[in-house]
Parts: sequence; structure tokens; C-alpha cells
Amino acid sequence: MCGIVGYVGQQEAKDLLLEGLKKLEYRGYDSAGIAILNGDIHLFKSPGNIASLESTLPSTIEGKCGIAHTRWATHGAPNQTNAHPHVSNSGNMTMVHNGIIENYQELKKELRDKGYSFKSDTYSEVLLNLIEFEYNQNGQDAADAIRKATSRVKGTYAIGLLIKGESDKIYAIRCGSPLIIAKAQEGFYMASDLNAFSTTTDEVFFPEDHDLIILNAQEGIRTINEKGNEIRMISETFQAATNSTGKNGFEDYMLKEIFEQEETVPLAMVYSGKNNKIQFPHITAIEEQLKSINRIIIIGCGTSWHAGLIGNYLFEKYARIPSTTEYASEFRYRQPVIGKGDLVIALSQSGETADTLAATRLAKRAGATTLVICNVPRSTLTRETDAHILLNAGPEIGVASTKAFTSQVAILTQLAFYISDLRNIEHPEISGILKNLAGLSIFINKILGKKNQIKELAEKYSFAQNFLFIGRGINYPTALEGALKLKEISYIHAEGYPGAEMKHGPIALIDSNFPTVAIATDEENRLKMISNIHEIQARGGNVIVLIRQGDDKLASMADDYIEIPATNDEAMPILSIIPLQMFSYYMAKFKGCNVDQPRNLAKSVTVE
Ligand code: F6R
Repeated sequence: MCGIVGYVGQQEAKDLLLEGLKKLEYRGYDSAGIAILNGDIHLFKSPGNIASLESTLPSTIEGKCGIAHTRWATHGAPNQTNAHPHVSNSGNMTMVHNGIIENYQELKKELRDKGYSFKSDTYSEVLLNLIEFEYNQNGQDAADAIRKATSRVKGTYAIGLLIKGESDKIYAIRCGSPLIIAKAQEGFYMASDLNAFSTTTDEVFFPEDHDLIILNAQEGIRTINEKGNEIRMISETFQAATNSTGKNGFEDYMLKEIFEQEETVPLAMVYSGKNNKIQFPHITAIEEQLKSINRIIIIGCGTSWHAGLIGNYLFEKYARIPSTTEYASEFRYRQPVIGKGDLVIALSQSGETADTLAATRLAKRAGATTLVICNVPRSTLTRETDAHILLNAGPEIGVASTKAFTSQVAILTQLAFYISDLRNIEHPEISGILKNLAGLSIFINKILGKKNQIKELAEKYSFAQNFLFIGRGINYPTALEGALKLKEISYIHAEGYPGAEMKHGPIALIDSNFPTVAIATDEENRLKMISNIHEIQARGGNVIVLIRQGDDKLASMADDYIEIPATNDEAMPILSIIPLQMFSYYMAKFKGCNVDQPRNLAKSVTVE
């Protein structure tokens, strides 16, 4: 979380940094700041988003070197004082930080005993002053001071640091948090992700943990590794995202991304109808293992975790491999029994989620085969796993994940079929399902065409403070995801439950003010869902039912219904979630919420 960006080069830094910050805003937006070095340190900070910061900036701040930060508060309230960049006690250093310093209390006490004082509540300011202390102790050797100070830190960090009087230099170092360096025509950048770089960037570098980077406008990039040796980082070519990162005429990114699913689901298809084959370009390295693995463990967080739950149904049904989906944050701390013979699939839109990354590293160390299904090429997870599959959905900017989910499910479905084929398991129905999946955009288009109906439904139910979402089998995770969408962007309390579990507690909540959304689009569980709907209605609850097109019986039972084009059960989670995304979107709009930047959330959770 938090976005950091730094620039040093031939051009004025302010606008380049602001540009970079805007592209990183999805990482956090509760405060922002910028420091420009021009002999002196010029510091500007503001609570709120980047637009608030921009409105407080003078039109010109001269200086060709600077750092900037957009914050998602982990420690200390989101206010001006806690906003980055922080300035050291002497006023000679300024720093931006992304990460968490776990042992900050002991370091802070030690520094206080040495006479240091602190303006903010952040642990970032502690690290900065520790660097300053080491700098003054060690003959003002900045590189040495940074390496000494960071070696004492327990936690994660990516930092950018400027020193007064060194107007053409940025110092940067990372451990656990992402940091990427770029060489562009106008100079050098450091940032927490590739998005921040300008379109003139031609080379990017991915430092290892503890590599110290010195960016100098004249001398270029210097890298000193953990042992103190000067090394050359291998560069990779950079391609600016070709997909539009604008809103394309939509009111919000979320709505744009919901509508994009008509194109992004087909882009996730690696099945070719011509030769009736599924071909994943980047998994040949693990193909042999896939033939013999005896267990699949899917790890992820939030929406990605929900997609993983759908994967369980598919892997067990089609590949006949035991499959579980785990919260990465729980998995990593419970000493899981894993090793050779296990396939660990990390699901992550961003490829940077701290818990998913740590859980995947743990699995890899234990000898498991690791595969990531990810939307961001060259993200940390795609670089660290044995193999990767890309969603090809284009940048997802809205904080609430929408198009990534449907692409994840499309990939997981094909992967289950692919492994089933590798293991010579006979499922004659697979090629029919694949053909339907390949043609899903027509159905998605039909669902998107129900925009006004769904908007009216949201208006009708905008009185409700609570919602229950139920589904069974492959659509139980759809219920979880529908509930998550509603709560995260409209702040309405919502619970997702398997239909059968309702009677074991949640049904006590039901009354005329507590509506339920029932997902009854899969044939397999239709009759059982009908019983659940009866049970809710018998207690005075209203039920909005997602039905298969032409299901007149369910239509006549429902208080309200949305028709989903009839196709295979396996495609139903993809189709059924789309109206639920739209429903949440309009509920949030009726409540006047900022759907792209919901309160307290950030797109990429890079701290645990
Ligand atoms: C919800 C949402 C989050 C993410 C979660 C994992 O709409 O976006 O729950 O799904 O933070 O993020 P990734 O997939 O990037 O690992």
C-alpha cells in the first residue's frame, strides 16, 4: 500500500512526480505529499487525495529532483503531519516510505534517548531519523548510513531519500515492499510500480531486497548489494500499458471495468476453437509436475480468494485433484503441511498483495510447485513463481475488483480442464463447455443491457441497511463476492452464505427490512435454492433472485428477479456476478459514495 515515486533528471520534477502519483493513487489516497530538492528541501503535504495536494501546490516549484507519496495509513491518522515525505530532525534529509516497521518502538526509544524528537506518529519518521543518526556517526556516508539503519529494521520497506546539498541524487532501498527503477529519456525514476513511469521509459530494473540504489542525473544508476559490493542490475525493456487508463466516457472506473468484461473475459480465453486446445503460454516449466501433483492449494485474499473457491469445484470435479482455497494471511502463519507434490496457485490481480506473496514464498521454500494467476505482467508474484498465467484484462483501477474476478474464473475453469486432459481423464462435456465459454461475450452483453433494470432495482432496495446473499455449489462463492462488492463500495452490511447454512443462524436476521439476493442460476442446485427462497419469504423477507432465462417458476416466486442467459453451470459464476457488481455500483451511487475510492480501502494491499 502507499505509492512512492521519485525522479531525478533534466526536467522539472514537480509535474512528472504528480503525474506518477496520479497513476499510483489506487494504492492509497488518504493523504499525499511531494518534496523537491533544489539546494533546499521544498515540502508540500496535504490530507486527502492527490487532487487536494495539487490544489495546494504553487504553479512552479523549481527543482529537477524530488520524491512523492500517496498514503494509505497503516500507523498514525491520515492527516497532514503523518503524510509523507517526512523530514529528519536536522532538516537535512527527507524520505518517503512504503511498508511497515515492526520494531519501531524500540528504535524510537533509542533515538529519543539520543535527543531525537518526532513530529508525526509514523514509524517512517523513526527510520528516517535512524538513517540520519547513522549518517552523522559515519562521516556522512549516506549509502553506508542507509544500509546500517535498514539492517536494524524488522518489517518491510521501500524508501526514497533525498539529502540537502545533493540536489541530483535519490537514494532508494527495499526489503519486502516493491521498488522498481526506470531509465527514461528525461532521467531516472524509482517507484512502487511500473504504472508510475513515463511513456519515454525504455529500461526498467528490479532491485533485490537490500540492494541500495543511487540515482544520479549525471552518473546514472549505481547499485550496491547487501555485502557492500557494487553490482550491475540486469535491465528489462519497458512497454507503457497500451490499454487505456482513462475512463473512456464512463462516470467511474468501476463502471467502465464492469462494462469491459464483454472484452476481458474473451481475452482470458486461451482455448482455441480451431484446434479445440487449451494452450497456456507460460506454464510449460511445470507441465510435468501438473501430471502428477496430488493436491492443489489456492491462496489469495478478498475477491481473489472468492475466485479460488470456484476453482475448488472445478479442480475436484474435472481434474479429480483435492483442492482447497485458503486465505493467504491464515495459511502463512499456521505452519501448513505442504511440499513436493503440491501445486500452490496464488491468485492475485495485482501480484503484489503482501500476504499472498509471503504465503507463496513459504510454499516455494517448502518444495511445492508454485503458479500465479495474475493481471499485472512483471509483478512480484509473476517474477517469483515457477510459472504464471496472465489475465490480460488490462489495468484494473477501480478499487473494487470486477473484471479481474471474471477473468480469474475463466482461467481457473480452463486450467481445470487442461489438467484433466493432461491426466487423460474423460469428460466429453468439456469441449461443449469451452465453446460456450469462448462465446460468453454475447451473454455478457445481454446482461450489461439490463443496466437500467438493475439501477431501478437498486433504487427500490436503497432503503436496506443489511443484505443476505445466498448461493450453493459453484455459486456459493458468487454470493460471497456479491456481498463483498456491496459492502466495500456502498458501506451496506452484507453477508454471503451457502443457501443451506442459512438455517443454522442467519435466518434469524430475516425480516421485511432485510432483503436477500439468491443466486439460482445453476441447474445443479436449483431445487434446493427454491426451498431456501420459500424459507426466507415465509419469514417476511424479500428475495431478489438471479434466475436462468426462461425459468418461469422462479420468476413467479421471486419478489424481483434478474434473468441470466441460460448456459452451462460452469459459466454461471462469471455471468451471475456481473449484475451483482452493477447492483452494488448503483446502490453506492444512490448513497452518494465514491465508488472508485471507497473509504479506508486501497487497491493493492502491500502490507500484511
Ligand atoms: C475487493 C478487492 C480486494 C482484492 C484483494 C486481493 O474488491 O479488490 O478484496 O481482491 O485485496 O488483491 P489481489 O487480487 O491484487 O491480490
